[in-house]
Amino acid sequence: MSLLILGIESSCDETGVALVRMPDGQGVPALLSHALHSQIEMHRAYGGVVPELASRDHIRRVLPLTEKVLADAGEQLENVDVVAFTRGPGLAGALLVGSGAACAMAAALDKPVLGVHHLEGHLLSPFLSEDPPEFPFIALLVSGGHTQLMRVDAVGEYEILGETIDDAAGEAFDKSAKLMGLPYPGGPILSKLAEGGDPEAFKLPRPLLHSGDLDFSFAGLKTAVLTQAKKLGDELEARKADLAASTQAAIVDVLVKKTMKALDQTGMKRVVVAGGVGANKLLREQLNAACAKRKIRVHYPELHLCTDNGAMIAMAAAMRLQAGREEANREYAFDVQPRWPLDSLK
Ligand code: KG4
Ligand code: ZN
Repeated sequence: MSLLILGIESSCDETGVALVRMPDGQGVPALLSHALHSQIEMHRAYGGVVPELASRDHIRRVLPLTEKVLADAGEQLENVDVVAFTRGPGLAGALLVGSGAACAMAAALDKPVLGVHHLEGHLLSPFLSEDPPEFPFIALLVSGGHTQLMRVDAVGEYEILGETIDDAAGEAFDKSAKLMGLPYPGGPILSKLAEGGDPEAFKLPRPLLHSGDLDFSFAGLKTAVLTQAKKLGDELEARKADLAASTQAAIVDVLVKKTMKALDQTGMKRVVVAGGVGANKLLREQLNAACAKRKIRVHYPELHLCTDNGAMIAMAAAMRLQAGREEANREYAFDVQPRWPLDSLK
């Protein structure tokens, strides 16, 4: 019997809700509808996410968004078979809103729930694209809070090959952008500005590029950007695009080279990129070029599903259920896991 899965994401500054239809057997689950409310405008005045405000806004958005996805798909709430929600990692208060709403709806409907790992959602989001990957693959997970290279053999079989020892790639974009006086969230704004700049204008460090392992470090890069911005002083305004381009080039260079190294070490022939930084144009161009040379296939989520959304949560729930990794349950006394390593999943 096919299952209708409602997915709710509320781990940070986006409320996302989606409906996915999981077919009988092993067919790829289909996205029926999804809706998103981004809090970016609200947090911009503070230069970053304010957790308390994030939670309150999720409360305002989650039910109207749920009504919208049901209407868009021509479905009734009573027809939902499983309610999936992001259990972690993320902001505790924000996670509690989505989890609470999901469990309350499920309890009222007498339907089971399933708590989903946010990063597993990102990781499996390319399966919603028109060109879905096949297992096994190397995953480059690059979000605002995480930067990891993983070996993925199947749903729930994740081995971390390397990760950041300090800032995440998205954080490197966001913090560098802030140092240059760009508004929150810096990543997309910095990369837009970089299009008009010279990536070789400033020599910035590529931390751990030759460390021999697959770990990352971006804190030193941020310091180098700060030093450079201070040195420029009044000239910063005129050279901002060059500094942005040089910063982006340094981050992308490290991400691409380490991904190539992971492919060499494992002999894998396929890469999947996931997480917000996966929307970065230069990263896509350089990774595509490097992989084309080695006849490696690269898969990305659809651009609008790179950053946080409900579709990836409903999809991850569907794929976990389909793979028999987990069963939805009626444990409505939910908990959340603000810190939750991905490789602890089964
Ligand atoms: O995956 P995501 O939506 O949230 C987390 O789970 O963290 O990722 C957000 C991150 C932010 O750091 C944002 O600046 C970055 O992804 N990002 C980008 C781009 N779009 C989003 N960074 C570089 N270039 C982009 N086009
Ligand atoms: Zn995310």
